[in-house]
Amino acid sequence: MTRRQRVVVGITGATGAVYGVRLLQRLKACSVETHLVLTPAGVLNVHHELGLDRRSVEALADAAHSPGDVGATIASGSFATDAMVVAPCSMKTLAAVAHGLSDNLLTRAADVTLKERRRLVLMVRETPFNLAHLRNMTSVTEMGGVIFPPLPAFYHRPESVDALVDDTVERVMALIGIERADPKSWAGL
Ligand SMILES: Cc1cc2nc3c(=O)[nH]c(=O)nc-3n(C[C@H](O)[C@H](O)[C@H](O)COP(=O)(O)O)c2cc1C
Repeated sequence: MTRRQRVVVGITGATGAVYGVRLLQRLKACSVETHLVLTPAGVLNVHHELGLDRRSVEALADAAHSPGDVGATIASGSFATDAMVVAPCSMKTLAAVAHGLSDNLLTRAADVTLKERRRLVLMVRETPFNLAHLRNMTSVTEMGGVIFPPLPAFYHRPESVDALVDDTVERVMALIGIERADPKSWAGL
């Protein structure tokens, strides 16, 4: 029996909570099994930016895990997953992943994803970057992770913020191999 695709989603306290929420909605629409870890700072930003509480974001996932629950399924490489996306990813969580810190369930799951050589995508959000940020992004890239800052593209002439967000989320979904992802492709000038 083939199992459903299974993706771990982390939402941290960087600005851009909409990316994590939109990603959860799209994965659900594509029948992908999702495991969510929402950090305390992520809860703050989801509320501040989207007016959503923790429960309503957790309701979008098949399983919601507490950041302190390092005994959860996704803390072990023996639990098969296909990919992990941190959307958005703070510089603090980036630093923890870059240094193998595993200080909470989100960073442990990212560590597991890297050690099992599965796809890890960090939608890092900060501007401008300092040298620590840049070095940490290099480290994660050297370990096989993908640094995917949610930088909007304008060549499709997006008509709304939602369109910009959707375009970015579809690109991430295609990157982690979701068959029903629908990224816009450039047809040339
Ligand atoms: C409104 C708001 C916006 C923030 N935006 C960012 C950001 O874009 N990037 C970042 O690295 N941290 C940002 N932070 C700071 C993080 O939330 C903070 O470093 C936190 O400790 C991250 O913890 P976490 O990675 O466990 O969620 C923001 C905080 C607040 C309150």
